[in-house]
Amino acid sequence: MRGPTTTAVTLDSVANLTDAVRVLRGRRILVLTGAGVSTDSGIPDYRGPDSPPRTPMMYAEFRSGEPARQRYWARSHLGWRTLGRATPNDGHRAIAALETDGHAFAVITQNVDGLHQRAGSRSVVDLHGRISDVRCLDCGDLSSRRDLRARLDALNPGFGTDVEIETAPDGDAVFEAVHGFRIADCRACGGVLKPDVVFFGENVPKPKVERCYTLVEAADAVLVAGSSLTVLSGFRFARHAASRSIPVVIVNRGPTRADDLATVRVDAGCSQTLSRLAGALRETGAHATGPGVRMAGPTGAVDAVG
Ligand SMILES: NC(=O)c1ccc[n+]([C@@H]2O[C@H](COP(=O)([O-])OP(=O)(O)OC[C@H]3O[C@@H](n4cnc5c(N)ncnc54)[C@H](O)[C@@H]3O)[C@@H](O)[C@H]2O)c1
Ligand SMILES: [Zn+2]
Repeated sequence: MRGPTTTAVTLDSVANLTDAVRVLRGRRILVLTGAGVSTDSGIPDYRGPDSPPRTPMMYAEFRSGEPARQRYWARSHLGWRTLGRATPNDGHRAIAALETDGHAFAVITQNVDGLHQRAGSRSVVDLHGRISDVRCLDCGDLSSRRDLRARLDALNPGFGTDVEIETAPDGDAVFEAVHGFRIADCRACGGVLKPDVVFFGENVPKPKVERCYTLVEAADAVLVAGSSLTVLSGFRFARHAASRSIPVVIVNRGPTRADDLATVRVDAGCSQTLSRLAGALRETGAHATGPGVRMAGPTGAVDAVG
């Protein structure tokens, strides 16, 4: 596994950071995040400059039969050791502070790690689901990954304990010796279990997409952090923001698909840059979001609003 990385803030990115603060101050900010905000927590991304090529399991393959699911769950079970231990970093905390300070009113994340919520963000849409949840494809029952982990441990005592595992994005693990791994079925109906995340080749449920468009409509700026926006799933919200002529600020190391839509681009590390950005906005004291625009439901999650 690659460890946390740091980037020196270049003069250019400092200048752009100043522009970013100027553009964002006084606006109701919607934050759109990707894997790049979690790399400093030790969870690798897919498309960073030093990310090795990966081939995540496609949805059709997962559905193709037991051998594919055995491979998926064996690796994912091992990968969970890392993902389950990951903790929020300064970037997650800065995004939570933007909300607490009244600058940001919601986060749409493509990440499945749950780290925004653990850092204190309250209005979060988990666009691609949460890796800590497990769904039965047959009866729809939702259960916890913690329970499944205990069941898989019991079914496969000692599995993979003697090897050093490289964790891949999405909690997968680079590990080939999956033969003999026993998978668990739904406790309610004996059906097929899948982590409650959107696989490649699968679509985000329509109501969730609609909720995200509503958030873009309610925003008067979008801050993209740590995403290449290669996947249409997240890109479309940046595109919608641009079509509404509201500013799009991108903080990302390396190019993104929305670069030509951006008002300001800061090519630098998320943890450091977002901390500076949140600090600078706090100093401006301009609180753009009042209770009227907060979209959170009783649980505090935008996601929970119907
Ligand atoms: N943590 C997670 O939950 C996780 C991790 C990997 C992938 N995924 C899934 O895979 C898909 C990948 O899309 P994506 O756009 O989120 O990721 P991506 O891998 O396509 O893009 C990540 C971007 O972040 C940049 N980056 C990496 N570390 C950074 C840092 N510290 N500071 C600034 N920039 C940094 C990379 O250069 C890259 O451009 C997502 O849809 C998501 O569901 C989730
Ligand atoms: Zn079931």
